This record gives sequence, structure tokens and C-alpha cells, in this order.
Amino acid sequence: MRSLIDILDFSVEELQDLLDTAMDIISFPEKYENLCRRKKLATLFYEPSTRTRLSFTAAMMELGGNVLGFSQAASSSVSKGESVADTARIVSNYADIIAIRHPLEGASLVASLHANIPVINAGDGAHSHPTQTLADLLTIYRTKGRLDHLKIGLCGDLIYGRTVHSLIRCMSRYPGNEFVLISPKELSLPDYIKKNVLDHQGVDYQEEISLDKALMKGLDILYMTRIQKERFDQPDQYERLKDSYVLNEEKMKRANQDMYVLHPLPRVNEISVDVDDDHRAVYFDQALNGKYMRMALILYLLNEAKKNPLKIGEKRIVGKPADFHCVNPKCIGTKEQELEARFYEDDFGQIRCAYCESKAEEGKN
Ligand code: NCD
Repeated sequence: MRSLIDILDFSVEELQDLLDTAMDIISFPEKYENLCRRKKLATLFYEPSTRTRLSFTAAMMELGGNVLGFSQAASSSVSKGESVADTARIVSNYADIIAIRHPLEGASLVASLHANIPVINAGDGAHSHPTQTLADLLTIYRTKGRLDHLKIGLCGDLIYGRTVHSLIRCMSRYPGNEFVLISPKELSLPDYIKKNVLDHQGVDYQEEISLDKALMKGLDILYMTRIQKERFDQPDQYERLKDSYVLNEEKMKRANQDMYVLHPLPRVNEISVDVDDDHRAVYFDQALNGKYMRMALILYLLNEAKKNPLKIGEKRIVGKPADFHCVNPKCIGTKEQELEARFYEDDFGQIRCAYCESKAEEGKN
């Protein structure tokens, strides 16, 4: 059963198929209005969301399908202690496809291992957010006309920003892309992405603390992100870092005339409203592009489900060494006790937790 848990679950060719479908949907929406008749999408949202949940809902409605689900954990049996695995099993009986968002890293992978319908990761903690990447891809494609040979600046919360993690993984596969990583030291990109994705694939990147300096580097894309209050363990650290970057009209004057500004939204104050009317500000279009790509994704996965090949989540799990344990307190593997611990060995021989990808430690828990 195909799912979308990590953006790398889809090949570059498959992503191009989704982009082509989305472009066709934009041109000929009426062709698509009945393609999901009698199909149901379950939206299981354990964390707040506006764009992701509503665009999934709108996407399914525009395909003629129906939507069921919940928008907060408190209104589901989770509040009674039900595990993600059990919830996914149950929902498989009621729906044809699941979109799940959860604060714990690896939660969507767990859902995909227990559901017998396709599962879409709509954000798992600070880990990844592949459908936001689909929205980003279509936005880059429509503005720049290509997905390769781009200089992409990513600014803000690179450590907890799941949208950034998925986007870097995705864009690293296209030739000639390079990254400028703009963040305070405390919020720099996690090592499993810096080392395993960028270094490993020989992708060019620079780290920069100053947004002003980064804007002088001839960026093609500037991807702004929110400093995410809810992911900080220490409130004082958030207070210290929250105003690290503010993009305004003045700063935009120094950037390329064709440097497009993306943001997964919501913004807090990192893009001032005076940028909104700039022709390079495309973050609201990006939110609309998300709906088209989610329509394309739902169609693709429902079609794949008919063919029923192997579970993608399972392919990525290569072993269960008994003498390792995960130490990430925000990983579903450490929170839901009945879950089987699963690990894999990365290309550097490092054992990592299969749910959250953080380094595993030797010895039993
Ligand atoms: C992002 C998310 O939830 O990770 N929002 C979104 O899905 N569009 C970014 C954020 O919350 O800052």
C-alpha cells in the first residue's frame, strides 16, 4: 500500500506527475469534479492547523468526495488514551485514505504501519511535512519555471521547522540546487539532514546568521519560516530568539527582482505586511497551490491503492537491533510504550530510530 510519509517516498518522476496533474486541475477543474465520488478522506488532526486541514478538505470536496475526522485530539478517543496504531486501524474501516497530523515525530509512519489504506503525513512534530513540500514545489515551478539550478535561502527556525526539512530533502534531488541556511546558531538544521542529506549528496550550502547578508547572495527563492513557540522546551529561549528575522519592504529592495518569497504560513511577524503587495511575495498563492497538489496526491494514492504494492513505510525500516533505544522525548517510539522499537542503519553506519531519525543510543532503555 503506497503512502506519503516522507517526501523521498515519491520519486522525482512521480513528483512531476503530481505537478502535471495539478497544472491540469488548474486549467480544467471540471474534469476532476467527480473522480472521488463515494470516496472518503479521514483527517486526523492532533495538532492545530488551518491551511493543511482545510485545503485537504477542500481538495477532497472538489474531487466530489467526502471528509470525516477530527481537528483536535481532545474530541477523539485519544483523550481516553487510544494509541495512534489503534486509531489508524479503526479509521481504515470508515475511510479510503487518511491525512494525519500529530505532535510526535514518527506518528504518521506508525499510522501507515497499522492502517490498510493510504496514509498521508500532514506533519509529524518537528520531523517532516511532505505535503507542504508539494505546495512549495508547485509554487517554485509556477514562478521560476524550473526546480533545478536554484539558489534557495531558508530563513528562521531550521531546527524545528518540519517544512524546511522536507523541502531540503526534496530539492536536494534536483541538479544544481544550492542552499543558504539562515538561522541563529541555536536554530540551525538538525544533523541528520545536514550530514545525511546535504553532505552525503554533495549538495552546496552555506550557513549565514544575517538575513541582510544572505539577501546579497543572489537568491532565487527565499523561504521564510516562523519561530515555532510550541516546539521550545524553554520559554526563555523562545523569547530570546522570536524576533531574530523580520523581512520588510526595505530589505526586499536589496534582493533580486526575481527572488520569490515563500512561507508555509502562519506568519507571526517575520514578514511584515508591507511585503504582501510586492510581486515577489507568493505565500498566499502557495497556500492555494497546496490545494491543487493535495487533489493530485489524493487521486494518485487512491489509484495506487488499487494496485496494492508494498507498504512504503516498511521499506524504510531495515532492522530492529534489540540493544538500542531512542532517546528523543518527542518521538512516538518513546511515548507510546506498546510500540515495537525500530531502527535502521544510515549510510554512515549510525543507528537511527526509524520513527524520528534521531541517533539511537546503545543499550536497552
Ligand atoms: C507549518 C507547519 O504546520 O509545520 N504550517 C503549515 O502546515 N502550513 C508551519 C508552521 O506551523 O509554522
